[in-house]
Amino acid sequence: MSSKSSTKPLLLLVSSCTLFQNVFSQIPTTPVFPALVNTSLPLTLAIEPACGSLSSENFTEINTGIIPLNSAMTIVAFGDSWTSNGANGSIPIPPMLWPPSPSAGSLITPGRRASNGFIWVESLANTFGAKLLDYAWGGAVIDNFAWNTTSSNNATSIPRVDFVSEANLFFFQGKILDSLNPSHTLYTVAFGINDEGQFEIAGGDWDLAFNTYITKLGELQAFGAKNILIHGMYKSHPNTDILQNRVFSYLRDSKTVNGTNFAFVNLERLFTAIANDPEPFGYKGNATCLISANTIVGGCDDPDHSVFWIPGHPSQNTHELMNLYTQAVLDECQV
Ligand SMILES: *[C@@H]1O[C@H](CO)[C@@H](O)[C@H](O)[C@H]1NC(C)=O
Ligand SMILES: *[C@@H]1O[C@H](CO)[C@@H](O)[C@H](O)[C@H]1NC(C)=O
Ligand SMILES: *[C@@H]1O[C@H](CO)[C@@H](O)[C@H](O)[C@H]1NC(C)=O
Ligand SMILES: *[C@@H]1O[C@H](CO)[C@@H](O)[C@H](O)[C@H]1NC(C)=O
Ligand SMILES: *[C@@H]1O[C@H](CO)[C@@H](O)[C@H](O)[C@H]1NC(C)=O
Ligand SMILES: *[C@@H]1O[C@H](CO)[C@@H](O)[C@H](O)[C@H]1NC(C)=O
Ligand SMILES: *[C@@H]1O[C@H](CO)[C@@H](O)[C@H](O)[C@H]1NC(C)=O
Repeated sequence: MSSKSSTKPLLLLVSSCTLFQNVFSQIPTTPVFPALVNTSLPLTLAIEPACGSLSSENFTEINTGIIPLNSAMTIVAFGDSWTSNGANGSIPIPPMLWPPSPSAGSLITPGRRASNGFIWVESLANTFGAKLLDYAWGGAVIDNFAWNTTSSNNATSIPRVDFVSEANLFFFQGKILDSLNPSHTLYTVAFGINDEGQFEIAGGDWDLAFNTYITKLGELQAFGAKNILIHGMYKSHPNTDILQNRVFSYLRDSKTVNGTNFAFVNLERLFTAIANDPEPFGYKGNATCLISANTIVGGCDDPDHSVFWIPGHPSQNTHELMNLYTQAVLDECQV
């Protein structure tokens, strides 16, 4: 391009800069703009993972070679309300609050989160600029047929979304939404809280739940999954502990047989440390902010420093800590 042809735009640029300088010289130097999402975190991750070895008898915190997160272009997530952004694999609604509803997202559709902001896997994807396909859904169990309260064998049961239906939806449309390049795609899976809850109401079959869990992990591998991250439940229960031991053992075989990289993050370690001594993390006041899942009326004044927002569901800042803790396990527990 000749210097002559660039002269005119350059002059325009200079004169508009002068205009901007005049405008800016009359306003404060550090304006405060309204922010859709304030990512400043007033909390600290005041705990280190407890890394274990691949030969561990039981589940332990480990990373057996998951792709570096900065090369993860896509994250595919399965789970329950602790992982759901209400999008069901599709495009999420931004985490807007519609008081008195406590669930960030849509006012009128189920496109909502059980939190007051981004949930952990969204923060993880946002941190590394990855596309998120989130199939997690509130109340989800592993397999409806495993529990008397959800199995269609029981005439009075009420089936829920389960790992089976989440995986089916993904197998049906995932490849349309993304190329799912195996060496740039991370799969995350978190189930167990609702299985324990349903089991406690009317019994069921943990062996069936386990078999379905690993059948789905096998199908994901057949579909191309090479990097699988498991979140262990935030509370210990004898049944879910055994389930997690068996899943860990299966994934050790997946590593040997299929070369599948896996990581295990034990949320119980994080949440036990918080419950035992919340102050070093920066938590203050009530551990749970709201009195119900349906309204913010009667809630606390300071959700930024509460562990839970809705009873049994992390605040957005706790979700951010879960994101940081997940990253810490991936960074520090490599074997
Ligand atoms: C963002 O959050 C931090 C920590 O809670 C707070 O100190 C700051 O004032 C907030 N900024 C805005 C613009 O809301
Ligand atoms: C492994 O888990 C089982 C079941 O929870 C438990 O009984 C056993 O003590 C654990 N073993 C170790 C070495 O922690
Ligand atoms: C069916 O489920 C209900 C709870 O939804 C439970 O109370 C009942 O025991 C179950 N019946 C059988 C036969 O499992
Ligand atoms: C979300 O997906 C599940 C399948 O995992 C389906 O059963 C459920 O109806 C969907 N919910 C909405 C609101 O689309
Ligand atoms: C519940 O499920 C178990 C295992 O599927 C079954 O043996 C039992 O009869 C069912 N009903 C009740 C009421 O527990
Ligand atoms: C290995 O991958 C195949 C699919 O390619 C799957 O069916 C099988 O369950 C996997 N085995 C293990 C132990 O993960
Ligand atoms: C805790 O919550 C209750 C209502 O659920 C409220 O009365 C109390 O003031 C709260 N305490 C703190 C320290 O926020």
